[in-house]
Amino acid sequence: MLEARSLTKTYNGFTALDSLDLSVQAGEIFCLLGANGAGKTTTINLFLNFIAPTSGSVTIRGVDVVANPLETKKYVAYIPETVILYKNLSGLENLSYFAALAGHEEYSPTELREFLRQSGLPEEAAERRVGTYSKGMRQKVGIAIALAKHAESLLLDEPTSGLDPKASNEFANLLRTLRDRGVAVLMATHDLFHAKETGTRVGIMKRGRMVASLETDEVGHADLERIYLEHMHD
Ligand SMILES: Nc1ncnc2c1ncn2[C@@H]1O[C@H](COP(=O)(O)OP(=O)(O)OP(=O)(O)O)[C@@H](O)[C@H]1O
Ligand SMILES: [Mg+2]
Repeated sequence: MLEARSLTKTYNGFTALDSLDLSVQAGEIFCLLGANGAGKTTTINLFLNFIAPTSGSVTIRGVDVVANPLETKKYVAYIPETVILYKNLSGLENLSYFAALAGHEEYSPTELREFLRQSGLPEEAAERRVGTYSKGMRQKVGIAIALAKHAESLLLDEPTSGLDPKASNEFANLLRTLRDRGVAVLMATHDLFHAKETGTRVGIMKRGRMVASLETDEVGHADLERIYLEHMHD
């Protein structure tokens, strides 16, 4: 579903991403771990075609992201650290607007409300201005947009940063639901606990390289933290 081959990004001779090989299949949650500046956001932004690769290839469903940016964007939903919404519109109005932008103008208010309900937004909040929402509530609207788009893949850049433990846990449960529906998820995170709990695989990045890749079933929480810290030594 999501695939990078020898993907490299350099900025004036500085290598931000170095020959990354990565593939995320339907029903997998791949968590990118690594220190600040390791290349996680760079990887995600290359899948979104926000930036162009220096060399190598990046494909979604086998379709080249650079050659077909509009087509590949149809298959993905993106949730950054802070989902950007219109503050003066309600959650329902934001969802309606972003779903329509993605080509889904067909939803009735009842259907839109159902996406918000599935994403865990309290029912009373749907018609309230987003400006009054907590961060966790905004992230849930982001998930509702992904549901409304029927996105086959989800690209997440530290989506739970700053969420309280309960909100992080709810977010993790939503990701599991999407995974069970066959969505391919690529997520950058610093949350080792949820990476192990929710992820199917984790990749540890360091200075633009993927230095380890593990199945989460095969390591315990303490092992993952130890392996991570070992890789952070110089
Ligand atoms: N436009 C740019 N020009 C020059 N260097 C850049 C640019 N964008 C990113 N970089 C560099 O690329 C490297 C990788 O950055 P990236 O944002 O991918 O890291 P990250 O793993 O997401 O880190 P964090 O955990 O802090 O979010 C960093 O050294 C960063 O300074
Ligand atoms: Mg980043």
